Amino acid sequence: MVTDENLGGGRRLHLRRILALMARGAAELPVVRRVSAPLYRNYFKKPCRRGNLYFGVYNTYEDALEQARELSSAQLPSTYDVEGATTKYMDQIESLRPCDYPAMFWVDRILRDGGRKVFDLGGHLGLAYYSYHRYITYPADLVWRVHDLPRVMAAGKTLAGELDQAGSLQFSETPTGGDGFDLLISSGALQYLEYRLPDLIDRLDRPPRHVLFNLTPLHPDKSFFTLQNLGIAICPYRVESLARLIDDMKARGYSLRDHWRLDERQLRIPFEPGYEVRSYHGCYFERSTSFAQGKAPQETAAVAVSSA
Ligand SMILES: C[S@@+](CC[C@H](N)C(=O)[O-])C[C@H]1O[C@@H](n2cnc3c(N)ncnc32)[C@H](O)[C@@H]1O
Repeated sequence: MVTDENLGGGRRLHLRRILALMARGAAELPVVRRVSAPLYRNYFKKPCRRGNLYFGVYNTYEDALEQARELSSAQLPSTYDVEGATTKYMDQIESLRPCDYPAMFWVDRILRDGGRKVFDLGGHLGLAYYSYHRYITYPADLVWRVHDLPRVMAAGKTLAGELDQAGSLQFSETPTGGDGFDLLISSGALQYLEYRLPDLIDRLDRPPRHVLFNLTPLHPDKSFFTLQNLGIAICPYRVESLARLIDDMKARGYSLRDHWRLDERQLRIPFEPGYEVRSYHGCYFERSTSFAQGKAPQETAAVAVSSA
């Protein structure tokens, strides 16, 4: 059998290029697939050098994790909690991506309106805290608390000792560390969590008035997991149904105030037609105060949800 391991260096590179091309289309035709699908599986098990790769469709986080463990290796463990993750996004401390602007707009608004406590779920070293600060003025009494994986938070604390002169950046060991905060923000991280955002909100005694997520892969109607090879690890990767997520937030008293599509971000899982994500999404929700007092939620703004 032809495997990646028993090919020489030049041929291996060649095979990878062919596989990448094949995985985009022709390889998925039923007859070719018998050969190409195992080759792609083998290809997926190697650290991906550029971008990310996706593999398989699973109903639960546990099923995806089991498969991630099967495909993992010393080079590519089945957890994001690795040393390589601590330096992976360093360039974002000093620069914003186009997708950051809508999120920064709302954070600025919330702070101007008196918000003082921000909980940043999957906020890495405090990337958003540092990069937004280049463009918006933070109040002196701001608290920006990040929850992330242990290695990343350890690196974040060390970096904060050097960079965070205001002393506003904190780190929380638990995802419920934002109880009673004004804003819960999560950018590019909900897809990695073993729990859903609405379930986390249910665990809070005092849910935040404002919730904002960004860079989130959402499907028009399907909810499922896949695996992502992000070069340093193979991780379960959640794709939610856009409609279900918004409905679940509404059921918790949140009105959708803004929604933006990031059409430049897409996800395609080779050999899994029908599971493409044609754009990533950002949403900003505000919780009505009457809901907190046990009354029915009210819409704060009419925002049309465009289907992806
Ligand atoms: C793609 S990065 C996004 C970083 C940053 N928020 C941004 O906007 O670019 C995903 C982040 O999620 C974090 N993460 C992964 N699994 C997590 C978990 N179970 N709990 C908390 N954070 C997690 C990673 O460590 C990483 O910082």
